Amino acid sequence: MVQVTYVAHDGAETTIDATEGDSVMQAAVANDVDGIVGECGGAMMCATCHCYVDEAWAERTGPRDEGEDDMLEGAASEITERSRLSCQIKLTAELDGLVVHLPEEQL
Ligand code: FES
Repeated sequence: MVQVTYVAHDGAETTIDATEGDSVMQAAVANDVDGIVGECGGAMMCATCHCYVDEAWAERTGPRDEGEDDMLEGAASEITERSRLSCQIKLTAELDGLVVHLPEEQL
């Protein structure tokens, strides 16, 4: 299991035990975490899985994948250098303890 903490826009934290190999989006949807929609199911066709990787984890999650920048342009909330599509972050043992922050709006 890989522990992931989602920090909502209002500061509320939800920590879950996710399955290794799932994406940050899949883990949120499977555990009913508010604030991640994942409308396209992870096909990189929406931006409703937008998240901000916590500064302490940015290096380990790595840079945006190709195509993420284009999709993020359509995101409902502000884009920052730590913005990622959470469906493109695969959970590995190395990411155990990951913290991501959620935007105010996804739609
Ligand atoms: S779930 Fe649609 S781009 Fe991530």
